[in-house]
Amino acid sequence: RTLLAGMLLSVFALAGCGQKQEAQQQASAPQAAAPAAGGEMKEYVVGTDASYAPFEFQNDKQEIVGFDVDVLTAVAAKGGFKVKFVNTPWEGMFATLPQGDRDILSSAITITDERKQSMDFSDPYFEARQLIAIGKGVADVKSFADLKAKKVAVQTGTTGDEVVQKLLGKTNPSIKRFESMPLALKELEGGGVDAAVGDNGVVANYVANNPQHGMVTVEDTKSFAPEYYGFAVNKGNKELLDKINAGIKAVKADGTYDQIFKKYFGSK
Ligand code: ARG
Repeated sequence: RTLLAGMLLSVFALAGCGQKQEAQQQASAPQAAAPAAGGEMKEYVVGTDASYAPFEFQNDKQEIVGFDVDVLTAVAAKGGFKVKFVNTPWEGMFATLPQGDRDILSSAITITDERKQSMDFSDPYFEARQLIAIGKGVADVKSFADLKAKKVAVQTGTTGDEVVQKLLGKTNPSIKRFESMPLALKELEGGGVDAAVGDNGVVANYVANNPQHGMVTVEDTKSFAPEYYGFAVNKGNKELLDKINAGIKAVKADGTYDQIFKKYFGSK
């Protein structure tokens, strides 16, 4: 509760001054690593589903911003490469790596054994957990198990979808799947479902920013295991993965990561 409350507060604070901080941060960003001898710094195309505040979303100027964007941009500066973020639908995103359309995926992606079979992940850069949001007037949900006889909205193909499938059964019509998390939460707002399940940072952020709908969140740390976000690259792209991991080490070591974490979530 306290962590989430802290997160929410800082997200509120951000709404007012995020842009300015962004600009300042860019101006004072550490000098990028020197390009390889004789060569230009390589630019990689990054796929992200920018409907996932505060991790990746579009600001008033339609720029893709967020925690993941700041982290990967800092990682790239340390790792000696450039990044270009491209808004990419979540569904079909994983296939863009082998297709060669995207070099890196940065989208609050949970590292799972199943996904590891088809792509390679960086070292983890964030810990998350599933969180339940329940609609106005839904009083009888105290834990995940209480969703058994409920209608639940999820984002298709996410770890939220997976946990709800386990509880309700894959083909249960009570699971309503949406192509983005905001669409799933809109369904909850409108009363089309009783609950929504998704990553804690995103669900908490949305509920806090839409208080008029009377949604509340329910934590269940017994039912939901911690999840770890990683940046994904095409299977076997060791050259790029090594650069990303070196960058992650560097931003964790010199305090850059903590600074970005604080900007979005307040202190730990
Ligand atoms: N962490 C969850 C997963 O990997 C949800 C990620 C969804 N990300 C997004 N940008 N829509 O399945």
